[in-house]
Amino acid sequence: MLTCQRSHFTLPDDLHYLNCAFMAPLAKTVREAGIAGIDRRSAPHLIEPSDFFEESDLIRRLFGRLVNIPDPNRVALVPSVSYGLANVTKNVVTSPGDNIVILEEQFPSNVYAWQRLCSERNLELRTVPPPLAKHGGRGLEWNNRILTEIDRRTAVVSLPHAHWTDGTLFDLVQIGRRARECNALLIVDGTQSVGALPFDIQQIRPDALVCAGYKWLLGPYSTGLAYYGPTFDEGSPIEENWITRLGSENFADLVRYRNDYQPASVRYDVGERSNFTLLPMLAAALELVTAWTVPAIEDYCRTLTTTLAIGLRERGYWVEEDRWRSGHLIGIRLKDPRDSYQLSQRLHERKIAVSFRGDALRVSPHLYNDVAEIEALIEEFD
Ligand SMILES: Cc1ncc(COP(=O)(O)O)c(C=O)c1O
Repeated sequence: MLTCQRSHFTLPDDLHYLNCAFMAPLAKTVREAGIAGIDRRSAPHLIEPSDFFEESDLIRRLFGRLVNIPDPNRVALVPSVSYGLANVTKNVVTSPGDNIVILEEQFPSNVYAWQRLCSERNLELRTVPPPLAKHGGRGLEWNNRILTEIDRRTAVVSLPHAHWTDGTLFDLVQIGRRARECNALLIVDGTQSVGALPFDIQQIRPDALVCAGYKWLLGPYSTGLAYYGPTFDEGSPIEENWITRLGSENFADLVRYRNDYQPASVRYDVGERSNFTLLPMLAAALELVTAWTVPAIEDYCRTLTTTLAIGLRERGYWVEEDRWRSGHLIGIRLKDPRDSYQLSQRLHERKIAVSFRGDALRVSPHLYNDVAEIEALIEEFD
C-alpha cells in the first residue's frame, strides 16, 4: 500500500487540491523535464535527428506497458481527445440507418464528433441515460441499458470507462463482448480513468482508446495518447505529415516522397509530434505512474473516496454504490442543487479545490492527498 506522495509535488501546504479530474499538478520530475526540454530547445545544435523518433517511441512503450499493448507502434501521439477521435470518425465504416451508441452527459469531445458523423451519414445517435440517481441499482441498470441499446445496426459504441461527472463505472469487458457480437466497434475515451483505474487492452479489446495526458497520466497539457487496433491499419489520417511516412528517419531523403506509412498506428500521429519540451515531460509523468503502479494508485484513492462516501451518506447525500463507482473520481449529488453556489463559496474560502460538473460535485484525489483533507471536505457539508 502506498503512502501519501505529496513531497513529489509542489502544492502549497494550505491547499486541498481534490481536482485531478480537472488537471493534475505537475510532479517535480515532470516540471524539471520540461525545463530541461526548454533549455535544449534554446540550443538547437543539441537536437539530433534521432531525437525526433526516440522520445516518441519511449512514450509509445511507456503507455503500451501501462495498458498492455504489446506492439508500441499501435500507440499514436495526439494533442487531444478530439483529435484522436477525429481519426476514428474519418475511418469508421457505416451504412445509412446504422446507429452510434454513446452515454448521456458524456464529455463533449466524445459527442460532437458523433453528432457530425450522424448528420453527415444519416445515422441514428443513441444516447443512453442513467436511471434516476435516487434509485438503488443505478449503476447496474445504466450498464444494462447500454447492453440493450447495442443491436445489429450499431456501428460504434463510444464511451468512457468511468463517467467524467460522477465516476460511474462501465463494464467495458461486457460491453465490448456485446459490441463484437453485433459487429460494432468499441471506442473508449480513457481520459478520466487510464492511470488511476487498470485498463487492459487485451482483456477489454477496444478498437480504439484515446486519452488526454494532463489528468490521470500526470502529463502536460496538449499531449494525448491513442491506441488504434487493426481495424484502422489501412485508414487515412486526418492530416498528412512527413514524419509518419516510411523512411522519414532519413532527413536528406524526405524529398523522395513515399506513399507508405510508418507501421501500424504511427500514421495517426499529429504533425510536429516530437515536441522537445512536452514529450520529455510526458515520459517523466508516465514513468512516475508506472513506478507507483495503477492498482496502487487506485487503492490509495479508493481509501480516500470511501471515507468520503461513508461520511456523506451518513449526512444524507447521494453517491453511487461502491461497486459501480470508480475509486479515484466520485460525484456527490446535493440534497438541493440550489445549495451548490454557497457550498462552492465555502470550499473556495477553505481552499478546497473540487469541480461542479453536470449536477454532481466532483471530487478526484490523487497520491498527494491524505485523509485529513477528505475530513476537511466532509466538514463543509451540513
Ligand atoms: C472524459 C474527458 N475526455 C476528454 C477530455 C478532454 O478533451 P480534449 O482533449 O478534446 O480537450 C476531458 C476533459 O475534461 C474529459 O473529462
